[in-house]
Amino acid sequence: MKTSEIVLSVEKLAKTFVKPFTGKKVEAVRGVSFEVRRGDIFGFLGPNGAGKTTTIKMLTGLIFPTGGKATILGEEVPSPDAMGNVGFLPENPYVYPYLTPREFVSLCGRLNGMSGQHLAREVERVIERVGIGYAIDRRVGALSKGMLQRTGFAAAIVHSPELLILDEPMSGLDPVGRKEVRDLIVEEARAGRTVFFSSHILSDVELLCDHVCILRKGEVVAGGAMKDLLAAGARRTELTLVDVPEAAIAELSALAESAQRHGPSLVLDVQGDEAVRKVLERALAGGLRVESLIPKRETLEDIFVRKAL
Ligand SMILES: Nc1ncnc2c1ncn2[C@@H]1O[C@H](COP(=O)(O)OP(=O)(O)OP(=O)(O)O)[C@@H](O)[C@H]1O
Ligand SMILES: [Mg+2]
Repeated sequence: MKTSEIVLSVEKLAKTFVKPFTGKKVEAVRGVSFEVRRGDIFGFLGPNGAGKTTTIKMLTGLIFPTGGKATILGEEVPSPDAMGNVGFLPENPYVYPYLTPREFVSLCGRLNGMSGQHLAREVERVIERVGIGYAIDRRVGALSKGMLQRTGFAAAIVHSPELLILDEPMSGLDPVGRKEVRDLIVEEARAGRTVFFSSHILSDVELLCDHVCILRKGEVVAGGAMKDLLAAGARRTELTLVDVPEAAIAELSALAESAQRHGPSLVLDVQGDEAVRKVLERALAGGLRVESLIPKRETLEDIFVRKAL
């Protein structure tokens, strides 16, 4: 199979809820489109209420769209062929408290058509893989939130799905727990799985994802390859000039978004290549010393705040 193969394709997906009694309409998802390629780690972002969980529920066949469609490996959701290729970790997974991780993950495997020795072996393998092998036969009710999340993760991968869909997999975990889930996501992607997950924790997303899609009020407001998104934000440049004569300061400052003096240095925040060229020409013509020129990269958080809020 080609590495560029599209595993998940979402076309103009929409969901309008109609509230009971009042009949009021809530357009939770409004024509969302994106594609996820094989082997990608894809981040699905947006502020509270943006429509992430609603989209994920449509992708996992829990609710029906009111418009558009989604396909998984070319099969339309929620056909059994499409859903057999999906592993799903819901937001706050519910795990029966009186079962052990072995029993719960076995149950999920059986629901996915697994049985016998193969099931037993895979259950042990995935529970070991998510790092809770030592608690495989403890009651789930006695496990910590991080261990519960891993039990849910093991249940999502027990049938070796092509596509993993995770709704806020890092939420509610401490920094160590988050790092462990991040590592699991990377390991699963290395093992050839495609991972689609929603998150609020932008630093995690920036570290992990190849592609992202940012939702706002049910619509896609930004998306694409993470490196292109971040590169597009690298238009600001910080220029530091030293020993600038008083007469030149006003003229140089006028070319910049902001100008600050630090002792003998003049620090200019310059927007766009053209303005950088003008400042440099002026500085060189005046024989000024350029101490540094630093392109300022926007972080994913900057982009998120600019686009999503
Ligand atoms: N069953 C429902 N009936 C009516 N409205 C709903 C229903 N489910 C979700 N909504 C509304 O749809 C919108 C999107 O909700 P959704 O849960 O998809 O957002 P989200 O991006 O997952 O938010 P969060 O980050 O808080 O998890 C919200 O305005 C929400 O109130
Ligand atoms: Mg949600």
